Amino acid sequence: MINKCLFPAAGYGTRFLPATKAVPKEMLPILTKPLLQYGVEEALSAGIHNMAIVTGRGKRSIEDHFDKSYELESQLIGTNKEHYLEEINNLVDQASFTYIRQKQMLGLGHAILSGQPLVNNEPFAVVLADDLCHNNGDNVLTQMIKVFNEYQCSIVAIQEVPMKDINRYGVIKGHLVNNSKDIYHVDSMIEKPAEEEAPSNLAIIGRYILTPEIFDILKELKPGSSGEIQITDALLVQALKGRVIAYKFKGKRFDCGSIDGYVSATNYFAKKAGIKI
Ligand code: UTP
Repeated sequence: MINKCLFPAAGYGTRFLPATKAVPKEMLPILTKPLLQYGVEEALSAGIHNMAIVTGRGKRSIEDHFDKSYELESQLIGTNKEHYLEEINNLVDQASFTYIRQKQMLGLGHAILSGQPLVNNEPFAVVLADDLCHNNGDNVLTQMIKVFNEYQCSIVAIQEVPMKDINRYGVIKGHLVNNSKDIYHVDSMIEKPAEEEAPSNLAIIGRYILTPEIFDILKELKPGSSGEIQITDALLVQALKGRVIAYKFKGKRFDCGSIDGYVSATNYFAKKAGIKI
């Protein structure tokens, strides 16, 4: 059972400055909904009700967003705008939210380690809300939980990317599991390789299921690529013991941490909503 979903949301979002000077990147909207809300909804529809969010200084609006706003309610109740409250209140009522602050932004691996007190000693999901995923059937996390239930080890979601972009990702070297077209045993992995040293075009995207041993590994790690503590380096330790599966998920994914990905996601969701642009 996966009961908790961790959302590392403490990064600076420098690629979106000046927008992210006072507004967390994870609160930037695609149409009317913040990126982080899409992630929480994905976790909920995968059957997870405990949301554990790693925040940092300047990110208090995240906590306010996933809470009641009595002032807004008293203004809107009884008016023709009351329905605006429903969506967010439903979400808040269905899930519990816990928070912890990452004190220094030392990378994704460090953010996940900072979340340890919120997830304890059990396998947990990780969603990077700036990777926005969408598809019509089972969502990405639901697909991954099915894979986890079969293999009971850490799972990373992967996608084929053009080799010219490979240096933006963690990249796996793996071999297909028998009779499968989308499940790989991971032999090795490397963070942000140069094109010529990349072992494949299979890039890790922002969805993970991690087993709790990852915390002991993270505690021992020295900063890797770009001086940060990388989750890829911790997963490599598990992979070398045969304990990581990569899953080529079904669906679309938008890198909303980059401006082009953010604009593509906006266009995609606008079209889906029938908005003419
Ligand atoms: P990114 O690598 O996109 O970094 O983080 P960033 O700081 O958010 O953005 P840029 O590169 O400066 O524009 C991927 C995810 O990991 C979280 C981010 O909030 C984002 O959800 N993260 C990253 C942390 O929580 N802490 C960190 O120290 C680094």
